[in-house]
Amino acid sequence: MMTPRPWTVPLAAFLLASVIATFAQCGGDATAASPAPGPNIAATPPGLTQDPARQPPIPQNVDRVRLLVSGAMLGRLEPCGCASGQLGGLPRRMQHVGEQSLGGRKTYDLLIEGGDMVEGATELDMQKVFTALQVLFGMQHPYDVLGIGQKDLELPFAEWTSYLAMAPVVATDLTSTAAEWPGKPFVEKQVRNHKIRVLSFTLALPEVMQKEGAPIQLLAPAEAWKLGLQGAEDATLRILLVHATDGKTRELLPKLEPKPDLVLCFDEGYTEPPAHPELLNGVPIVYPGTRGRMLLDVSLARLPEGPRAGYEILPLQGSKTIPGGGGDPDTKEVLLQHRLLVKEDHVLAKMANQRPTANGATYVGSATCAGCHATAYDIWKNKTKHGHAWQTLVDAEKDPKRYGWPVTAYPDCVSCHVVGYGEKSGFVTAEDTPSLTDVGCERCHGAGSDHVQSGGKKAMGKVGGGMASVVCTQCHDFEQSPDFLYTNKWPLIQHGREPGQEKK
Ligand code: HEC
Ligand code: HEC
Ligand code: HEC
Ligand code: HEC
Repeated sequence: MMTPRPWTVPLAAFLLASVIATFAQCGGDATAASPAPGPNIAATPPGLTQDPARQPPIPQNVDRVRLLVSGAMLGRLEPCGCASGQLGGLPRRMQHVGEQSLGGRKTYDLLIEGGDMVEGATELDMQKVFTALQVLFGMQHPYDVLGIGQKDLELPFAEWTSYLAMAPVVATDLTSTAAEWPGKPFVEKQVRNHKIRVLSFTLALPEVMQKEGAPIQLLAPAEAWKLGLQGAEDATLRILLVHATDGKTRELLPKLEPKPDLVLCFDEGYTEPPAHPELLNGVPIVYPGTRGRMLLDVSLARLPEGPRAGYEILPLQGSKTIPGGGGDPDTKEVLLQHRLLVKEDHVLAKMANQRPTANGATYVGSATCAGCHATAYDIWKNKTKHGHAWQTLVDAEKDPKRYGWPVTAYPDCVSCHVVGYGEKSGFVTAEDTPSLTDVGCERCHGAGSDHVQSGGKKAMGKVGGGMASVVCTQCHDFEQSPDFLYTNKWPLIQHGREPGQEKK
């Protein structure tokens, strides 16, 4: 189990950061055509402009509350840097938050993080949760609310809840018998003359929490809604976080009385927020998107005809003028400590060898294939980038302008640049398994021991069961290779059988 270590960011660094950060004003809704704010935030990109016909803007003279919304970070504390122009990351986010709070004048009334900070329940995930909580709740600009997603509930319960003690956790439809459970039915804030109450529904439990004696129980939505609104005034703005698909959210809404003023739906099918909020049963619904790539600057007001919301999408881009720049230095420091700790704790080796291989055979390494597939090996090693994908990490690690931290010890980098990481007989470390570095033959064709021992008689089978592109996109996803198309990319790595190995 991990040992969280105290980290320190000197106060001087905070002060310096706030002096050098440039102040920027940010538009809040459809009506405010704001200039591009700050060095790291772009205005809404083309194609994402608001459609005024969809929902009339909040009238100028109406006081609105402003929320900064995101969620479903899914472990992306920072973009991996495999392609240029990647969005997101905590350092850029916290720089934006800092810029918006200069001189004690806060632009946002409420900072909301939805939940599902990580995707899995590994030791690395736990260290990431700890790090993200430090950044969002333990530094100069703490967030106001943290929701709980279904993936969060799969984390090792005792350790996870001990980390959560530092955050204002809202979990309206979850109850727990565990004394240390930090979830509250609501979080309420007084903002100028408005009261805002935030509630959160997880709506379903993962399997581990459905077992007998599990520490978490689920309340029915109507009951939870009542509990969460206890003592609330009519005028209180009701914001509901829902951690479920849009379909489930649509089913839920009619069951809620009184109606929420705003629903934030963390449906992971929406990797990016739509151009504008949707209005369902008179309630605005907002889909914040995933991986922390964009933030939403949401304005909300209750008008006589009902609640009304608008938002601006803030894609978190890097600085165009400073390579690798455009992030809060203190947050970067916390992330660096996290990277160093992952290396120091040997997390890479601990997470290796977990699952059996898909075909039951063991990995033998690309050099073993070379004996009978000399041409394919030569193409792979000398003509494709897969043949030196590990060296790329080694070089990246040494380049302080690009990384300068131990990427070869960080599971989230290694996994796509080697063979069989996480599987039995797969990659462990460069020292332990030197033959499994790079995106070798067996990463696409499967473990080869049976094929080799049978002199090629036991078939490897088609890549991806005949759907090779499925294997490619395990690594070449929309962030790593935004314009990946199998038909364009296969020719760049094309290889095949040797003479004498013709199909029988
Ligand atoms: C295990 C992860 C992984 C898988 C699976 C994978 N690749 Fe790659 N690919 C990489 C990495 C990493 C690089 C970059 C290596 C470097 O630059 O050192 C890369 C680079 C490439 C490049 C060169 C860059 C470019 O876009 O021109 C091509 C072409 C490519 N891959 C095609 C494919 C195809 C086709 C498939 C599926 C048959 C595939 N890859 C499957 C990880 C993967
Ligand atoms: C999901 C799989 C995946 C993960 C995780 C991943 N990479 Fe990559 N990486 C790729 C692919 C695919 C490419 C090739 C992209 C292309 O050219 O289309 C690549 C390319 C690269 C390159 C070469 C890009 C260039 O500009 O020359 C570097 C450097 C790199 N990755 C470093 C990293 C580091 C550091 C991490 C961890 C922070 C990481 N990668 C995590 C899949 C991955
Ligand atoms: C990035 C993924 C990838 C890597 C790495 C890779 N291959 Fe392939 N290979 C493919 C794909 C895709 C095909 C063509 C479609 C298929 O066979 O499913 C293919 C085809 C082949 C074929 C012909 C298959 C047939 O049925 O005719 C052989 C032989 C082969 N590869 C051997 C190798 C060897 C040896 C290596 C390492 C030196 C290697 N491959 C590395 C993806 C890969
Ligand atoms: C001892 C020699 C030998 C070694 C070592 C060897 N192969 Fe083969 N391989 C063959 C022969 C022979 C065939 C043709 C078999 C046939 O089609 O009947 C073949 C065919 C293939 C094919 C296409 C048909 C199929 O089985 O799906 C792939 C893919 C392949 N090999 C991949 C690999 C990979 C990857 C490695 C390394 C892990 C490897 N081979 C190591 C001899 C070998």
